[in-house]
Order: sequence, then C-alpha cells, then structure tokens
Amino acid sequence: MLVVSTEYSQILAAHVAHAMDCQLGGVRFTRFPDGEHYLRMDTPHEEMVVVGSVPDSDAMIQLLLLIDACEGSECTLVVPYLGYARQDKKFNAGEPLSARAIARALSTGVSRIFTVNVHDKAVLSHFKVPARDISLAGEIGRYLSLQPLEDPLILAPDDGAAAFASQVAATCGWQHDHLEKVRISGDEVRIEPKNIEAKDRDVVIVDDIISTGGTLATSSAMLHAQGARSLSSVCVHGVLAEGAYIRLLAKGIREVTCSDTLERACSRYTAGNAIAEALR
Ligand code: R5P
Repeated sequence: MLVVSTEYSQILAAHVAHAMDCQLGGVRFTRFPDGEHYLRMDTPHEEMVVVGSVPDSDAMIQLLLLIDACEGSECTLVVPYLGYARQDKKFNAGEPLSARAIARALSTGVSRIFTVNVHDKAVLSHFKVPARDISLAGEIGRYLSLQPLEDPLILAPDDGAAAFASQVAATCGWQHDHLEKVRISGDEVRIEPKNIEAKDRDVVIVDDIISTGGTLATSSAMLHAQGARSLSSVCVHGVLAEGAYIRLLAKGIREVTCSDTLERACSRYTAGNAIAEALR
C-alpha cells in the first residue's frame, strides 16, 4: 500500500503512512504557464491511499488530478476536511446542493471514501461509493488530558455539537454541557451553559469547525463575564477564515487548537492515528 497526498495534506499523509507502517509516495506539483495544475506521482502501487483536504477550489482540482493519476490501482480516498459540506441544503431556489456536487465528483475512480468529522453525516449519502466518517473526539480528549487544565468543563457551542462534547468529555470522565442563548430582553441575549456554571472552571469549547470564529468569540466574552478561570478551544478543522485566530486570541482565549486536517500553525494534534485505524 502506498499513501500519497495533495500539497494540502502532506503532513497528515506522513502521519497516516507512519501509523500504518507503509510507504509515502512522492508527488511533484507545479503549474502550467496559464495557471492550470500539473502533478506527477512516483510509480503507483496496486493499492493506493489518496489523502487530500478540500479547503478551496485549487485543492479540489489537485485531488481530482491525483485520483486520476492512480488509474489502474485500487484507490481509497481520505478527505480529512470536506469543504462545501456546509452548503448541504438548498436554502434558496436556484442554489446548488454544493456538498452533493463535491461528493459526486470525488466518487469517480475510488472504491471507498473516508471523511473526518464531516459537518453533517447526511452528506455521506451523496458519495457513489461506500463512505464513512471518522470522529476525532477521542483524539481531542487525549490531547486535552496532556494540558495543564484542572477538571475542565467541556462545552459545545450549541446543542448540535453537544454529542461531540460528550464524546470528548467521556475520554477522561470530565463534565460537559452545551451553550444556549437566553433572551434577556428584546435586544439583549446572554449565552451561558445550559446546566453547569462556568465560574472558576477551566472551560474548553469544542467544535467541528472554527471558521470566522464568530461563534467562539461571542461565547468566550460571555463565559469570561460569568467568571470562567480560563477559556480555550479545540476544534477538528481550523478553517480560521478572515484572521479568526488572531481575533480569538485578542478576545482573551488562552489557546486555540485544531488538528492537521487543515495544516495550520495551531495544528497541535494529528488525525493520522484515527485515520490509520479506520483504514486498517
Ligand atoms: C456550525 O454548525 C459549526 O459546527 C461551527 O460552529 C461553525 O461552522 C463555526 O463557524 P464560525 O467560526 O464562523 O462561527
């Protein structure tokens, strides 16, 4: 088996290959003078694992080219971050179901697909080959257990992420809860944990994605006001759009951490072991 990756997932692919004790294939990436992507892979193996996150259109094109270069091999596709997954409904007439379009395009030339904490598992049904989602809740729990936190309170930013927070907390028997909006008056809303007070607690907000950081920034200001001792956040996919990382640190969040599904300066834990385990 040979693991190869697009330019966007090289560190993660190396972790996967290491965890599976198999080889990492070399791929050379360049562009034609008109900007089109070109790549050339070392000699393919009869069994290939292609790893490529899709944070943007260039990543998508590289991934399609790399899958095509594996023609003739048995190919497993790992999409650690599946971009466009949040446009999973037609919110207005005339819109595409973007998640479906991306899933269909990625289904050609591969025999099975793995995603990591995909925004909504319903998206998996759009793939044309068997697809499975891998959760990093356990990896986040293990990462947090190594941090200087005292009996942390694990919080989901909304009830949609409550099950995820509960899985993270379960790794070490910590308490967990989710945030909810309490309307104080016509124009005033307070965000607070539904059941457990944040006062004097090391609070960790966990989520699948930090994108603009808006959800986290609003919640953290409220939790500081409610007396949380420290506030940090761990997510799976650090999209971190529009300068979100700096903005969040400026809001007093002690640490913002993500996995290497998107390779960022704050990627402090790897999805590699969980992916390798699923592949095995
Ligand atoms: C929403 O359903 C997701 O789980 C995240 O909470 C959301 O994508 C975060 O977005 P932002 O960082 O832009 O507030």
